[in-house]
Amino acid sequence: MKNVQYAFRYLIYLLRAKDEHSLHSPFLFELYENVIEPSAEYYKFKEIEAIRSEMLLSDKTIEVIDLGAGSRVSKSSVRKVSSIAKHAVKQDKFGKLLFRLVNHFKPKTILELGTSLGVTTSYLATTNSQQQVITFEGCPNISAIAEKNFQKLDLKNVKQVLGNFDKTLPIELVNTDKIDFVYIDGNHRKEPTLTYFKQLLEKSHNETILVFDDIHWSSEMETAWREIKKSSNVSVTIDLFYLGIVFLRKELAKQDFVLKF
Ligand SMILES: C[S@@+](CC[C@H](N)C(=O)[O-])C[C@H]1O[C@@H](n2cnc3c(N)ncnc32)[C@H](O)[C@@H]1O
Repeated sequence: MKNVQYAFRYLIYLLRAKDEHSLHSPFLFELYENVIEPSAEYYKFKEIEAIRSEMLLSDKTIEVIDLGAGSRVSKSSVRKVSSIAKHAVKQDKFGKLLFRLVNHFKPKTILELGTSLGVTTSYLATTNSQQQVITFEGCPNISAIAEKNFQKLDLKNVKQVLGNFDKTLPIELVNTDKIDFVYIDGNHRKEPTLTYFKQLLEKSHNETILVFDDIHWSSEMETAWREIKKSSNVSVTIDLFYLGIVFLRKELAKQDFVLKF
């Protein structure tokens, strides 16, 4: 039933989604043309995708502690690394989009809630070694694999924070001056998502960008996304179905865009 609802939500998205011809805002037009739409490949992408392939081919199984909304495909606490790589890790298309966003806006401090095997973290961390990526994960066995993947890619600008976001995020935020870019990809439930959003806003500034994953994953997530869009702190929001991008920039008129991706 959940899958039917999800397919229906996707159909609605397809009917609503527009392209650059509907964009009258110069900021949005430029963003769509130069960041959202392009498909240029960078040399690092191949190395990151080689790690994904290695994870997909792995025959290793690990004990998983799930502190989030859980998986739709497995309720077991013992999971194959290959299954995590297949079902939990974001497809390359989205990693590449996050790379382009980071490459374009050049945020200095980047947070990721939900490291998993570190594939998308690697896209976030690879544009510039001066940018720091702080990535949060609750499962020690998953986090250990991610750490090895960062070493294989020689990524020295990634700091992993192990533990429940509910505890680790507020602690880390106290020690962080300001945050420039956040990718929220874990614990896809309404209340935790809104709590993280409020906590993140406290260290955000006009140029901070927040990217929420799986905004249509469930009716709870759709409610959270509606609340986020309504927030007086938020100006422009972009719905790409699998991801929602949030801008806080006061100079932009409040508007929600549903765009083809
Ligand atoms: C969808 S996966 C992240 C995928 C990753 N961003 C990528 O694309 O490669 C979500 C991860 O968040 C972690 N997680 C979920 N809820 C959590 C919580 N409350 N605290 C810490 N980690 C959590 C899970 O263990 C899981 O590894």
